[in-house]
Amino acid sequence: MQIQPSIINIFEKAARKAGKVLIRDFGEIENLQIKSKNIGDFVTNADLKVEKILIETLQYYYPKATYISEERGKIDGNDEIIIIDPIDGTTNFIHGIPIVGIVISKVLNSEISDGVIYNPITNDFFWASKGKGAWCNNKRLRVSKRQFLADSIVGTGIPHANKIYDKYLDEIDQISKNCSGLRRLGSAAIDLAYVASGKLDAFWERGLNLWDVSSGVLLVKEAGGKVTEPNGNPWNITSKDILASNSNLHENIQEKLG
Ligand code: IPD
Ligand code: CA
Ligand code: CA
Repeated sequence: MQIQPSIINIFEKAARKAGKVLIRDFGEIENLQIKSKNIGDFVTNADLKVEKILIETLQYYYPKATYISEERGKIDGNDEIIIIDPIDGTTNFIHGIPIVGIVISKVLNSEISDGVIYNPITNDFFWASKGKGAWCNNKRLRVSKRQFLADSIVGTGIPHANKIYDKYLDEIDQISKNCSGLRRLGSAAIDLAYVASGKLDAFWERGLNLWDVSSGVLLVKEAGGKVTEPNGNPWNITSKDILASNSNLHENIQEKLG
């Protein structure tokens, strides 16, 4: 009997296969067909190709699962839900900025049990499974130990000038003047992987989807960090807004965002 590879091995296999396509098209602005879904929200032919490879590879191992994927939408199946963002950081990808991630996670009974984020450009393979820690390649990840916001750098995502923009400018002001620097990396998945790695000390953003953050939430938790909504309410898989931190800074940032 063939031994079924572990779920992380399967996710890795799919992500590495799809990653080859992503690398081929990376920064190839002339060859990319780019469509605007919304102001500042793009999809390229690479997103669609990557997504197709991911779904086909994963369906071989999990033919009955439900799939929720950013571009393709929902494929109905059983209670095991596989969440996919084929390229998190499409705008970076179009501009040849190497901060991108292929995101695959599994949700069962509203809990994220396993997740990966793969950046094929840097060859960083982040993964986490509930109770098994957070990892990048062979290295165990731990959140930073910084105690003071003044010494910390904080990631965020800046929305387009829509309804929440004004409130956002206030939040940026509150955090920016109290920390040692803000970062807008352009991929919420990588932001969260960097919180788990102790590179960023915290990250917040509003208006995200589950495929942006699913693997990252598990990475941060398994690396010893804390994840809630920015107002301190528990984060769950339907939450749109997120605050993730090394835990030490959480309350302070939460108060400033509140
Ligand atoms: C986007 C990135 C970005 C965040 C946006 C997301 P996409 O995902 O995660 O950092 O600010 O809100 O939509 O469109 O590149 O998959
Ligand atoms: Ca995304
Ligand atoms: Ca995407």
